[in-house]
Amino acid sequence: MTSTSMDRQLTEAQKSFMNLLATSALPVMAAPMFLVSGPDLVIACARAGIIGAYPAANARNIEALEEWMAHTSQEVQNIGPHAAWALNMIVHSSYDRFAAEIALVEKYQPKVVSTALGSPKRVLETVHGYGGVVMADITTPTLARKAADAGADVLVLVTNGAGGHTGHYHPFALLAEVRRFWKGPIGLAGAITTGTDVRAAQLLGADFVLAGTRFIATNESLAAPAYRELLITSKIEDLVQTKAVSGVLANWLKPTLDQAGFTAEQLKEEKKIDFSGDIASAPKAWKSVWSAGHGVGGIDRISQVEDVVQELRAGYAAALIKEQTDLAQLLPLYAAKNHPQ
Ligand SMILES: Cc1cc2nc3c(=O)[nH]c(=O)nc-3n(C[C@H](O)[C@H](O)[C@H](O)COP(=O)(O)O)c2cc1C
Repeated sequence: MTSTSMDRQLTEAQKSFMNLLATSALPVMAAPMFLVSGPDLVIACARAGIIGAYPAANARNIEALEEWMAHTSQEVQNIGPHAAWALNMIVHSSYDRFAAEIALVEKYQPKVVSTALGSPKRVLETVHGYGGVVMADITTPTLARKAADAGADVLVLVTNGAGGHTGHYHPFALLAEVRRFWKGPIGLAGAITTGTDVRAAQLLGADFVLAGTRFIATNESLAAPAYRELLITSKIEDLVQTKAVSGVLANWLKPTLDQAGFTAEQLKEEKKIDFSGDIASAPKAWKSVWSAGHGVGGIDRISQVEDVVQELRAGYAAALIKEQTDLAQLLPLYAAKNHPQ
């Protein structure tokens, strides 16, 4: 189990995040996904008792984003005082909607703001100004230190096997290294598919998890019907990891790479990173080439968000019960000072 906020000397923002987790149905967040997560998914998450996030960039322009944020904050507020939602922002210097988006953050005050592809510094003052929590995605210990130094409240460790812009490192190793210098809340992301995965992440030292791929094949996601269907038939070996599509290492579903005409040679190329202009209508990346994480093999049907959360919760409870049985058997064997002969 995770240690208490007091043992860990958490900041006020970190404590407020841990309280949000404690009042969630499960220590799980629905991760933000480009062109996949929108208000319906995030509101459904809040109704099911977990925090969901959408990328600000998913709204086709700033006016549409304002409508999304006004609607989301109203609906989430109607659910009750513990309900929360998160906005994910691109903080890369080439992303030219940043100033307009941060103004909307100040206006609609999502309890959590997560940052991707750059330093969380750019959002800290605004989000802390209204008592919100800043969460930063990191893929390496170096980036974790930078995010911690910049003042992020929560770190999200994106590990190898994650859908979308994936990580390079094994979750065991990355968590262990980051835990050596970071006492604050940690979310683990990458191939989290079952309730047992959620519990396993906690045993490794995470406070919660983020699941992305698990929520694509839901009725509330923005994914095209063919994308959801493809997830049901896809397995881990149907994924290709490459930088060629968006310039950042990501896992892509092979049939969609083939359909978009990517050759084996092109998949070895690195595309330049550029988030300027209208990224939502970028021709190939994301729109017609679809991403999933290594957990894709665990998706067997299209569900309601509520059903996914209930399934994860039942699996998590079953993992806890199994742990109790295991403990009764294992503690006498292994917690004794000397090995019993
Ligand atoms: C289709 C897709 C799009 C994604 N887009 C974003 C994004 O826009 N911003 C972001 O921070 N993370 C994005 N991610 C990464 C997720 O937030 C999360 O880290 C990842 O889905 C976790 O791994 P999993 O899919 O194996 O659960 C995306 C993931 C997927 C599958």
